[in-house]
Amino acid sequence: MINLGQIGAGLWGQNLLRNFYNLKDCRMKICCDKNKAVLENIKAQYSGGVEITDDFDDLINDPLLDAVVIATLPVTHARFAIKALSAGKHVFVEKPIALNVDDAKEMIKAARRHKKILMVGHLLLYHPAVKKLKGYVNEGLFGEIHYLYSTRVNLGQVREEENALWSLTAHDISVAIYLLGQKPIEVSVTGKSYLRKDVQDVVFVTLTFKNKVMSHIHASWLDPYKIRKFTIVGSKKMAVFNDMESTEKLRIYDKGFDWAKKANYGTYETFLTVREGDINIPKIDMVEPLKLECQHFIDSIKNNTRPLSDGENGLEVLKVLAAAQKSLETGGQPVKIS
Ligand SMILES: NC(=O)c1ccc[n+]([C@@H]2O[C@H](COP(=O)([O-])OP(=O)(O)OC[C@H]3O[C@@H](n4cnc5c(N)ncnc54)[C@H](O)[C@@H]3O)[C@@H](O)[C@H]2O)c1
Repeated sequence: MINLGQIGAGLWGQNLLRNFYNLKDCRMKICCDKNKAVLENIKAQYSGGVEITDDFDDLINDPLLDAVVIATLPVTHARFAIKALSAGKHVFVEKPIALNVDDAKEMIKAARRHKKILMVGHLLLYHPAVKKLKGYVNEGLFGEIHYLYSTRVNLGQVREEENALWSLTAHDISVAIYLLGQKPIEVSVTGKSYLRKDVQDVVFVTLTFKNKVMSHIHASWLDPYKIRKFTIVGSKKMAVFNDMESTEKLRIYDKGFDWAKKANYGTYETFLTVREGDINIPKIDMVEPLKLECQHFIDSIKNNTRPLSDGENGLEVLKVLAAAQKSLETGGQPVKIS
């Protein structure tokens, strides 16, 4: 049995707490939050099951705790994670891993030094539809992937500290890196603030990968529709993953262009023909992705294995975000990703 403590049980933290609480091979022992109302709510919901505190040191000093889950705002992630890792606890930290590259590197070093698991909440990597897509990519179903694009918009939670880039795009960046199996080399971003000064509500991010592969992300919390959609365009097939669909989340299109040859007065001309083939809707076992993510953390601890979204993966995504922020500040100038 893995004993867990969690810091931060706000809007998202509540979901993590519920999932960890319901897993069989771990116990959510104690929850810390600085907001009394949040703690009272936890006490009422998990009566007798989860201890509450407003002091993080109660988690750090608890010898029974194996791991700490961090779901506070990103500005605090590094501080809490390094403290927990240094106290010999495994750490699950929400995305983004941190707000600057140096902090993330310190977190990774602390995990290595203390031989503890550090996992970042790149939730979509655990989504059954994304797993399915990755399988197809590995089989070569799409042929050469030309480009991907994703839309993550709604009339949603407006953040005060982070802009839409930092708040919304980590998932799309992590999925692009995962599916393409490579890191982007350059990023360019445009965006605008409408609701408050200097906090961009909408961003358009373009990532450039090797071999002309491109990925585009439109993210906004100021939009009439809630859309969570990825499109992959390959030389052989195309796919759309629509997370707003309740059942048929993934569609594989046998669409594209083929080259054909036509006799023309003794010579052959090549020309493009449109291919409009079948649409395949693969069956996907729908389990809550967050449950799978939480289970992956527990399994990584139990088996001492590297999580899919480990600290290095968190750092890769953070490097993209940091370069993207630079680009945003310079009106969309392309910025190389180190
Ligand atoms: N994986 C996802 O899909 C997803 C979705 C939303 C948010 N998130 C991430 O989850 C994290 C939390 O986001 P949220 O929307 O729940 O924010 P939130 O503001 O609703 O909740 C944060 C909670 O942390 C508590 N807190 C903050 N500082 C604290 C401190 N020093 N000590 C104790 N408690 C403290 C606050 O009281 C609050 O209850 C962020 O990193 C965010 O990016 C992830």
